Amino acid sequence: MTCTRETSDELIRSAAVEVLRTNDLGTMTTAAPNLYPHMWSWDAAFVTIGLARVNVSRAIQELRTLLGAQWSTGMIPHIVFSEDETGYFPGPDRWGTDAVTARPAGVRTSGICQPPVHAIALRHIVDRGRENGGNDQEAAEAFLEESFDSWLAWHRWLAEARDPEGTGLIEIHHGWESGFDNSPRWDGPYGSIHPGHVEPFTRRDTLHVADAVQRPDNAEYTKYLWLVQQMDSVGYNDRLIPQVVDFRVRDVFFSAIMAASSDVLADLGEELGRHPEAAELHQMATRFRNGVAATVDPATGLARDYDVGAAEWISTQTISGFAPLVAGGDRALLEVQRKMLRGKDWMGHPGLAFALPPSTSPNSPAFKPRTYWRGPVWPFLNLLFGWASRRDGHLELYSDLREASLCQLADLQFAEYYEPFTGEPLGSLAQAWTAAAAIEWLQ
Ligand code: SER
Repeated sequence: MTCTRETSDELIRSAAVEVLRTNDLGTMTTAAPNLYPHMWSWDAAFVTIGLARVNVSRAIQELRTLLGAQWSTGMIPHIVFSEDETGYFPGPDRWGTDAVTARPAGVRTSGICQPPVHAIALRHIVDRGRENGGNDQEAAEAFLEESFDSWLAWHRWLAEARDPEGTGLIEIHHGWESGFDNSPRWDGPYGSIHPGHVEPFTRRDTLHVADAVQRPDNAEYTKYLWLVQQMDSVGYNDRLIPQVVDFRVRDVFFSAIMAASSDVLADLGEELGRHPEAAELHQMATRFRNGVAATVDPATGLARDYDVGAAEWISTQTISGFAPLVAGGDRALLEVQRKMLRGKDWMGHPGLAFALPPSTSPNSPAFKPRTYWRGPVWPFLNLLFGWASRRDGHLELYSDLREASLCQLADLQFAEYYEPFTGEPLGSLAQAWTAAAAIEWLQ
């Protein structure tokens, strides 16, 4: 399917650069102006990819700020709070992380993490620096050298603290860690959570969207806060959390990003002459790539998460089913997945405004076209699938995703997510990672 757009590349680019500029607090880019007035870990990685096209040293600063919040365990927290105490709930007081000694002094953070897209962003910084040459190249290469051990510590922490049994899958303890907060993927695990006393709270997120149906509902939010309370009760101790938390899931999409990113970091390690660490990272990549491939349901061809508490696979028709396309690997498996992605349950659905995969298949009973992770199209994910297609030499899929994405983003709203059938922008507008995706697609 092709689309036509009247908005020129130049206009899209300048509007997207303007979004990054307005969200820029100087040393961090807020994920969005009102709904998310802080830095989010995986948003920051995508933002860095866009920034690297505009200003390499500003892109370096973004990752430096994120690393400034890295815990001594190696964990990179999912939120680094700005000084705006009013805009977002739950803020640092509710997380209770000021009491955690692993947290670096002077930085306020959440107590959980998000998928490790960062090495991919670091690769973009190095590549853009080399393309530009001069000071940019010097700064990018110096940053690579300076930060390599911190990224290595992050990957080691994930591999050890979140997969102590070596299953090849990362265990998460909150839907927020997946980034797919209220996806149907988590309906089973959340369905068996019955919160005890949750401290009273007032949501702020629903003040910033046009219609509350675009956000998770109150029952879901109560569970989100319950899990935070449980982890806070053990001081976010990695060893104790699995004993107290009601949400324990092996997340296939997180694991796929871990696989892809570990390979990228390994290659960067090779360039630095860090051969033993590079070999370790390649092994990590293989372990998680195999872990992801082993989840594929022979009946549907989609990858699955695993509910540790219930000891069962989670089968849903969600975009995370295409985790192998991100992880890379087995050619036959990837070929089948690419066909499915283009099929009528996903990009080939006849009702779509743009040929882009919805977060939940329109043919799934769980599909809700306007609700956060239950159906809308998320632009940053399309960029990730595009990046992986290009890595694997599938330029046709890359070009199709690119063309449809630029048609979608030509409305210049840079929304958090889009209604799949009408193309209506939903959630927060002026979302930084959506703008960054537009900038990257334009190259
Ligand atoms: N995505 C979450 C939110 O909506 C936080 O990670 O607040």
